[in-house]
Amino acid sequence: MIPSLQTVGRVLSGIGPKDGGLWMPKAASTVAHEVDFVFQFVFWISVFFFVLIVALMVYFVIRYRVRDGVDAEKTATHNLGLELTWSGIPLVLALVIFYLGFKGFMDISTPPANAYEVLVTAQKWSWQFTYPNGYVDADLHVPVDRPIRLVMQSEDVIHSFYVPAFRIKRDVVPGRYNKTWFEATDPGRYQVFCAEYCGTGHSSMLANVVVHRPGGFETWLEKASNFLETMSPVEAGRKLYTARGCAQCHSTDGTVKTGPTFKGFFGRAVTLSDGSTVVADEDYCRESMIDPHAKVVVGFEPVMPTFQGRLKDEEITCIIQYLKSLGSGGDDAVDR
Ligand code: CUA
Repeated sequence: MIPSLQTVGRVLSGIGPKDGGLWMPKAASTVAHEVDFVFQFVFWISVFFFVLIVALMVYFVIRYRVRDGVDAEKTATHNLGLELTWSGIPLVLALVIFYLGFKGFMDISTPPANAYEVLVTAQKWSWQFTYPNGYVDADLHVPVDRPIRLVMQSEDVIHSFYVPAFRIKRDVVPGRYNKTWFEATDPGRYQVFCAEYCGTGHSSMLANVVVHRPGGFETWLEKASNFLETMSPVEAGRKLYTARGCAQCHSTDGTVKTGPTFKGFFGRAVTLSDGSTVVADEDYCRESMIDPHAKVVVGFEPVMPTFQGRLKDEEITCIIQYLKSLGSGGDDAVDR
């Protein structure tokens, strides 16, 4: 595919293509242009010196090549003016780059005092966002044009919270709180990645940032927070299944992932890793959320984190109702 002139122009100019270019995704936060500018600045300095040095090298190789009848002659001594120039220019450039980079780093590291705070929990392999009223969601919803401060922790290994459109990336480390902030400038939906290799599910450790128009965020939060009252238990359970990360490891279509599929799981006789058998009833499902390593289904690793204290009783009940709705093996079902 031959890129259009417009695309070439956008790539070459680089700075601030609103919908993103060949190299950069859409710039959708207040710091994005600052980051892009430093990148372009360093990049074009590098291109300039690369071309200059290679061109001079080729020229000298040709100009001073070995020729018949011309004896090699050593004439070079030193040239103070030249040496000062080639030391001074890089020094100034390095100082300018340091200044731009440091200023941008400080801006990205220092959230404004009035920022809205959301807690972020990373665990293998999902993100959870806890809002000030206690509501937890698998996506990050924020209002537009408002600084958002994220206080992030990991339940297990090191993850990294990365939103390319906002130009922010920050490690999420167990045992400490890492913070980052951003202010989204355009309503829309943006991709969150995990940027630290954290195991088999790393590449599917995704979430969305949903940037709401003015007023939309408050309405959304109010509605979303009341889901236990407004939804049926099965619907609420389905919502929790995706919002709380169950979906990362348990499919509902029969696919085997990190954990057993939920399709036809409820009510079935299940063989455990110690050879015993248990019926996957309400109590078994509940115990597996509270104490996941107590009874592990044969063929699976005991890697599930506990949800004790993180799921309310009512929420556990809804998830169990959802599991039931996915069908059961019935009385005559035998495991494997
Ligand atoms: Cu979490 Cu990679």
